[in-house]
Amino acid sequence: MNAKGIISGIIKNKGPITFKEFMDSALYHPEAGYYSKKEVFEEDYITSSRFDIFANGVSVAFSDMLEKCNGDTIIEFGAGDGRLAEKVLKRLSDDINYIIVERSEKMRNRARARLKNFRGVSFVDEADLLGSKINGIVFTNEFFDALPVNVVVRGKNGLEEVYVDWMGGKFVEVLKEPSTPDLEEYFKKLDVELEPGCRAEVNLDAVKYIQLFGDLIEKGFVFTIDYGFPSEELYTPERMDGTIVCYYNNAYDFDPFVKVGEQDITSHVNFSALVEYGTLAGLDLTGLTNHLYFLMSTLNEHAVEDFESAEDFKFIAFRMGTYKVLIQHKGIKRPHLRCLQMTPSFGYWNRYNYQGQLEMEFLEE
Ligand SMILES: C[S@@+](CC[C@H](N)C(=O)[O-])C[C@H]1O[C@@H](n2cnc3c(N)ncnc32)[C@H](O)[C@@H]1O
Repeated sequence: MNAKGIISGIIKNKGPITFKEFMDSALYHPEAGYYSKKEVFEEDYITSSRFDIFANGVSVAFSDMLEKCNGDTIIEFGAGDGRLAEKVLKRLSDDINYIIVERSEKMRNRARARLKNFRGVSFVDEADLLGSKINGIVFTNEFFDALPVNVVVRGKNGLEEVYVDWMGGKFVEVLKEPSTPDLEEYFKKLDVELEPGCRAEVNLDAVKYIQLFGDLIEKGFVFTIDYGFPSEELYTPERMDGTIVCYYNNAYDFDPFVKVGEQDITSHVNFSALVEYGTLAGLDLTGLTNHLYFLMSTLNEHAVEDFESAEDFKFIAFRMGTYKVLIQHKGIKRPHLRCLQMTPSFGYWNRYNYQGQLEMEFLEE
C-alpha cells in the first residue's frame, strides 16, 4: 500500500493525527515513506555533500576540532548515502572511528556499500549509543530540517495545533488543542511570543537530539550544518505561514498533502533552540556562521583541486551560502576554531560569535 493509503487508514481508525505523525509516516514509514522507497531521491534536492570543496571544508574543521579535544571519534547522524563521509574520510587519518546513525534502511545500505573499504567506519542504532561518551564530534548535515515537526497557530485564545484529517478523499487540516504542553513550554523557553495568526513549527525532536548529542560528548564538539534562522528571523511577518517546504524533482512546493511519500518535506531549523536546549546538556556556544564564510575560512592548498567548476562554487557558496554552521563545545575552554575565523559581524551574528576577529587573537587556548 502507498503512504496515502497507509496514513488515511490510520486516520480512519483513530481520528485526526498531529502534523508530526503525518510527516513522520510520509517520510519514514518503513515501506512507504519517502526515505524508504524513493528511487530518485538524489534528483529531488541537492545537499552540499556532493561538492568536494564542501568536504574539504568539513575535513579542515574536523581535524581542527579533533586536535582541540584530543579526540578520535566522529558520530554522524543522518548521513544519508554516506557520500560526504566518503569524501571526508579520504582526507582524514585512518585512525578515526567514524560512527554512522542513519534511520532509513535504504540510505544505510547505500552508505554501507559506499564505505565498505574504510576500516574505521561502523553503523549503529541510536539506542546503542545511550550512556556512551566520546572525545570527539557529533556531526550532522541537513539532519534537523528532516525531523518531523508539530505545527501550531497562535489563535485568539492561545496556541492551537494543526492536526491532519481525511475528508472527501483528501488530507485536510483541522485545529485542535495542543497535543502536549511541551509546545507552549518551547516558546516560553525561547522567550518568543507569536503574533496572532502566526503559524510555526515546533521541532521537539531537535530539542531531544541536541541534548542527546551533548550527553554523548565528554570533551568535544557538536557541529551542525542546516538551513534555518535564530528566533528573531524565524518568527517575522514574512514567515507568518511557517516554513514547511516540500521537494520533488528539484522543484519546491508548500503543500505536504500532495505526492505523499513521493516528495520530501522539511522545515527550517530554529538555531536559537539548538543553542538554548544545548546548554541543558552542557553545550556552550562556540559560534555561528554561514556556508559562505565557513568555506572561505577553511580554504587551503587542496581547495583549488576541489573546485569542480565555477558553477559548482557559485551554487554552494551563493545559492546555499546562507545555510548555517553552528558549533557548540563541551569540556574545552573557549576553543578558537579556524572554520569560525570569518563570521558575519552584524545583527544577531554578534550575539552568537566571538566579538570580532581581533579579539580572537587574544583568546586563551
Ligand atoms: C536531508 S537527508 C541528508 C542526508 C545527508 N546528511 C546529506 O547531506 O546528503 C536527512 C537524513 O537524515 C536521516 N534521518 C532522519 N531522522 C533520523 C534519525 N532520527 N536518526 C538518524 N537518521 C535520521 C534521513 O533518513 C536522511 O537520510
